[in-house]
Amino acid sequence: MDGPVAIILAAGHGKRMKSEKAKVLHEVCGRPMISYVVDAARKAGAKKIVIVVGYAADQVRAAFAGEADIAFATQEHQLGTGDAVKACRSFLEGYQGSVMVLVGDEPLIRPGPLADLLARQKTERFACLLGTAIVPDPTGFGRILRDGAGRFLRIVEQRDCSPEEAAIKEVNPSCYVFELPGLWDALDKLGTTNAQGEYYLTDAPELLQSMGRKVVALPVLQADDILGVNTRQHLAQADTLMQARVLDRLMTEGVTVVAPLDTYVDGRARIGQDTVLYPFTVITGDVTVGRNCRIGPFTHLRDGTVLEDDVQVGAFVELCRTTLGRGTIARHHAYLGDSTVGPGVNVGAGVITANFDGKIKSRTTVGANAFLGSGAILIAPVLVGAGATVGAGAVVTKGQDVADGQVVAGVPARPLPSKP
Ligand code: UD1
Ligand code: MG
Repeated sequence: MDGPVAIILAAGHGKRMKSEKAKVLHEVCGRPMISYVVDAARKAGAKKIVIVVGYAADQVRAAFAGEADIAFATQEHQLGTGDAVKACRSFLEGYQGSVMVLVGDEPLIRPGPLADLLARQKTERFACLLGTAIVPDPTGFGRILRDGAGRFLRIVEQRDCSPEEAAIKEVNPSCYVFELPGLWDALDKLGTTNAQGEYYLTDAPELLQSMGRKVVALPVLQADDILGVNTRQHLAQADTLMQARVLDRLMTEGVTVVAPLDTYVDGRARIGQDTVLYPFTVITGDVTVGRNCRIGPFTHLRDGTVLEDDVQVGAFVELCRTTLGRGTIARHHAYLGDSTVGPGVNVGAGVITANFDGKIKSRTTVGANAFLGSGAILIAPVLVGAGATVGAGAVVTKGQDVADGQVVAGVPARPLPSKP
């Protein structure tokens, strides 16, 4: 097996979320929180990712179905984070090299510091390299204990802290790089004499050190990167921080975001330079927007939407699995779903594609430079040809395609003499 390997712990229930859903699948900016951890591990250079599943394991497996670099290890009983790593042993039998251990409930972890830790580990071959953070409020985290010379001693869980230890601001964000197979020796020695009676992974660094092996802790992580989601309140905080990062990236790339606090963009969206997002724009799912577009106010672009350059979409326009060609305009009150709309099309106020007949969804195609009058309804599957005109309030029924240049009007829509 090619390394480095990443293990992501995700077997816990997350009881404080009060949910039937696996905690790590709760969404942050439209994506399961664990998918950000997976991305960060990949970007940092992990070649193989083992996700430890337990509670709602099938949900977690399904979320990553078909991703070739991901394997799953099942932890039958949630006996602690140390036990969770042990569950990966059969997958990693024979592997020698670095293994990064992360937790699935810290979606804000960034690839940069993880890559630094892996690079450092590659040259130094520590038994354990811990990424730590110094935070204003360490509540909830394990604390990092160091000796008078600043050398790592051990991690103490909050529950097991003395008052002096509880005051320490350097914390364990659960971001470890271990060397295999050495880690297994420490995991074999883990005990459960702690406040929770669990096998704590946090005991492994100290055990390795007691076996004469080298353990180093480096404060390479920032407070924002290590927000752990344990409650719905944390989930909202993670969303706010992640959204600020997404919009910051877009602005750096040359997108104007008029009102960042009133704009919501999925992290997967790609948006071209000089596009302007007006307030109350919501972009969810995998969406691509070209250059120099004007989006909003009050626009919802949903999964599978592609806008070419110079498109304008305005108030109360919702698009789903729809492509709009260059320069097409849909400024007011429209719904276009499962549609391919050519360039230069005018989508009048209130135009609707009826893409769902109660059983299946069907496509609508509109050719270049067509004109869709206000309130027109296109019942899919249907095609409106290039340069065609659909009159205001017309209902173009299923399969009654409108030919190139043809003018139709009425309910149901019928051809009128063409424009002179
Ligand atoms: C853990 C660390 C703590 C650290 C904190 C935040 C331990 C003992 N403590 O505490 O030092 O500051 O994370 O990073 O590791 N999990 C399993 N199987 C289990 C138990 C947990 O897979 O048997 C998974 C959970 O799904 C979760 C992660 O491990 O993703 C961390 O578990 P959690 O119970 O949240 O640990 P903390 O108490 O936060
Ligand atoms: Mg936690």
